[in-house]
Amino acid sequence: MYKHVVVTGGAGFVGSNLVLEMASRYPEAQLTVVDDFRSGNFKNLEGFKGDVIAADLATMDMKHYFGGSKIDLVFHLGSITDTTDHNQFRQVHDNVESWRNLLNYFEGRKTRLVYASSAATYGIASGLNKVDQEPKPANVYAFSKVQLDNLSRQFTRQNPEQVVVGLRYFNVYGPREGHKGAASSMILQLAQQMRRGQTPRIFRHGEQLRDFVYVKDIVSCTILAARARASGIFNAGSGVPRTFNDIVTNLNRVLNTGYQPEYIDNPHAHYQPHTEADLSQTTLKLRYKPKYTLETGIDDYAASGFLV
Ligand SMILES: NC(=O)c1ccc[n+]([C@@H]2O[C@H](COP(=O)([O-])OP(=O)(O)OC[C@H]3O[C@@H](n4cnc5c(N)ncnc54)[C@H](O)[C@@H]3O)[C@@H](O)[C@H]2O)c1
Repeated sequence: MYKHVVVTGGAGFVGSNLVLEMASRYPEAQLTVVDDFRSGNFKNLEGFKGDVIAADLATMDMKHYFGGSKIDLVFHLGSITDTTDHNQFRQVHDNVESWRNLLNYFEGRKTRLVYASSAATYGIASGLNKVDQEPKPANVYAFSKVQLDNLSRQFTRQNPEQVVVGLRYFNVYGPREGHKGAASSMILQLAQQMRRGQTPRIFRHGEQLRDFVYVKDIVSCTILAARARASGIFNAGSGVPRTFNDIVTNLNRVLNTGYQPEYIDNPHAHYQPHTEADLSQTTLKLRYKPKYTLETGIDDYAASGFLV
């Protein structure tokens, strides 16, 4: 049913899983990846048979590449994703201008637009995170994502007939995240420590709660978002917060090890004690229901060969 779908950030972690799933669900569709490979890796696209455009979305001449092609759907995931990059100009310029460039080009074209926002927009607000609560970005990466949400709301007010859906991804983990290094999930980082024979190190006392969500659920949610009846911003998580101690327990299980975590002092003054996606609107409007628990997600990750 899709003729031509564009995935920005398609060489990255979530983007590559999305592209490969789209290729398998819609083998007849033309798929185009746009990525400048600043953090993504070509190895994530092994087996991909579509087109790849290596370009920076913030400055890319959309007309040059897309002029004359009818594009049904854009998944926009291309973004600086290293939250410890505190260069304010780079984060805001590259992330916001990429989205503005896409919105400007696709305005009035009936192309559906789905983009990745982030739970980071909630900042240090703790507990159940609801989409309509006031954003409190704690770093410039999160601030840039708040701007994507603001731009999208402005765009849909001016173009009420065009569907634009933002998804606030929570802590995603799963295959094809290895290239992210220190920005990869704690599940991968702790598994790597344990595989090297090191005691897993987590912040005292490992009971902080996070909404960890398996990438296959995030891909399903993202594909469902493309069929939304109306524009909106939605949470995309597991809906079930879990602790860092739970991760170590589950990794011990799949790695067949028996580590006790080493608890270290938390150097961060503003560290979220609890994130949890309120999925009520996502379930109601997008029909998204996560399939994986932390246990089954880690099982599937281990079975994929990407974790160990
Ligand atoms: N992984 C998570 O837990 C998580 C959580 C919240 C939000 N997100 C969002 O989901 C999206 C995907 O994240 P990811 O985890 O796959 O990260 P990633 O770093 O693996 O993927 C991002 C991709 O975008 C590309 N890119 C960055 N800036 C670009 C630009 N200006 N032009 C073209 N390509 C560019 C990178 O090269 C990379 O391939 C991002 O928008 C991210 O902010 C991810």
